[in-house]
Amino acid sequence: MSGLFISFEGPDGAGKTTALNKILPELKSKTSREIISTREPGGSAIAEKIRDLILDVKNLEMDDRTEALLYAAQRRQHLIDIVIPALNEDKIVLSDRFVDSSIAYQGGGRQIGIEEVASINDFAIEGIMPKLTVYFDIPSEVGLERIKKDRSGTEDRLEKEKLEFHQRVRNTYLELQKQNPERIKIINANQDPTKVALDVLELILNKFPRVFE
Ligand code: TYD
Repeated sequence: MSGLFISFEGPDGAGKTTALNKILPELKSKTSREIISTREPGGSAIAEKIRDLILDVKNLEMDDRTEALLYAAQRRQHLIDIVIPALNEDKIVLSDRFVDSSIAYQGGGRQIGIEEVASINDFAIEGIMPKLTVYFDIPSEVGLERIKKDRSGTEDRLEKEKLEFHQRVRNTYLELQKQNPERIKIINANQDPTKVALDVLELILNKFPRVFE
């Protein structure tokens, strides 16, 4: 496969989708190759159906391992439908989330374990990994504050649980970064959104000087 695969990762509220939207036109102006921007969970017809199943608030009783398997399943389908064909056509694929999300959220957040979640994902992805993963790091309190829409005074226990979950997700991302320092690069997402986008752009341009002029 001759294409270039880049993933974007981070806890909820880190602002990665905003940054991606900002840098996309810049990147497009700096290469003659086609860039496609996609996302997980979802990104293709079948994968979107699996996404609806996972994120449906009615599915309160979903088992944690079922959830992890469904994330791996949508990833597989998204790879087959979107990512692999594009890479085979020499395109640049930017994916909003990939396998590190499962390891951080299901492995760390839900405490299934890094190894367990990595192994079901190995089955799903068959060795296809991004050349670069841009990790948006943000203190959990700041990320949660950004996404919090309404708050009732009775929500303290839930709020605390949410914070601890968020912290486990972040700690797992940071652990993954330590294990894969060449692939995973950290962006300080606790800055002005314009500066965050600039940092991401600079990182990508510096990493692939022969792709982007
Ligand atoms: P989404 O609305 O796409 O949010 P975001 O813009 O933050 O990506 O919802 C995705 C949610 O699914 C997000 O909370 C992270 C979670 N997720 C997992 O738990 N595991 C995974 O493997 C993936 C891809 C996402």
